[in-house]
Amino acid sequence: MSRFLMTRTLDENSAEAALGADVLRGLTSEPKTLPPKWFYDTRGSELFEQITRLPEYYPTRAEREILLARASEIAAASGARTLVELGSGSSEKTRHLIEAMPALDLYVPVDVSASALEGAAETLLAEHPGLRVHALLADFTRPLELPESPGPRLVLFLGGTIGNLLPGERAGFLKAVRAMLSPGDALLLGTDLVKDEATLVAAYDDAAGVTAEFNRNVLAVIDRELDADFHAADFDHVAVWDREREWIEMRLRARHDLSVKIRALDLVVPFAAGEEIRTEVSAKFRQDGVRAELAAAGLELTEWWTDAAGRFALSLATAA
Ligand code: SAH
Ligand code: AVI
Repeated sequence: MSRFLMTRTLDENSAEAALGADVLRGLTSEPKTLPPKWFYDTRGSELFEQITRLPEYYPTRAEREILLARASEIAAASGARTLVELGSGSSEKTRHLIEAMPALDLYVPVDVSASALEGAAETLLAEHPGLRVHALLADFTRPLELPESPGPRLVLFLGGTIGNLLPGERAGFLKAVRAMLSPGDALLLGTDLVKDEATLVAAYDDAAGVTAEFNRNVLAVIDRELDADFHAADFDHVAVWDREREWIEMRLRARHDLSVKIRALDLVVPFAAGEEIRTEVSAKFRQDGVRAELAAAGLELTEWWTDAAGRFALSLATAA
């Protein structure tokens, strides 16, 4: 029996329809916005992996440090036989946890990027001959049909990706995660922490311009999938720290007056010089806020671990 299965809840037509609906809503709103999940086609997933290796982008290294230090504690506390990971990407850091879990039976990575899921599964299956992988190509903000699997389950949401959801979306998302947990199950949540503005802005506006290319990649996705005529060179990459909301905003700013044809939507979108599209928020957290958001969803924070420099946190939570 094969140890790998991929369930696709997003076929090409439904993904294109969902992109079309998001683009229509977002680019006809004031101010213009696009949801960040559309960054991650094959090229976007590759660019994100490059970002994780940039000197300015500390979150991946900080979270890896915590995972390496705490993997056996996490494995013992959860006793997990099934690991479900939301927004798993390359599963690069997850490998440290899987290595500490010899009794693990099933890994369920969930992502919108088919290329990321395929690459991750190939590596993990080669490294762990006893492990089964059932990948879900799915949007983690929509109801998920998880495969039947032995408990206890540990749900992972790493990388600080929770910060890419807006506060209202986070509340609904955490309630849905709570509903996935049976008694004995747990959630391991990665959150980037509030810190000085210079460090934060540099992490989202690196000297090599990789984050700028990642940001502009969403325009290439819209051009390809919706037959549009965005030109990446018409837009500047912008990263700003909003100190009241405690989040980084990534934006694309029109360099001059222009208009874009989106043929699949029969839509023309005008841009004035300097007009921006908000393409991502990346919220940064404090322990009290994480505890309160978990509690509001019926989850109890049981462990809080940070890296030595206090830049990033991993929280373990169970049903309250
Ligand atoms: N967890 C990995 C990857 C983080 S990048 C890490 O810590 O390095 C964010 C990942 O979430 C990407 O792989 C992206 O494709 C995925 N993603 C973003 N929005 C998503 C959504 N709504 N549903 C499912 N996956 C999503
Ligand atoms: C996936 N997510 C947590 C990243 C972040 O830091 O918000 C995405 C990213 N955007 C720009 N750089 C990285």
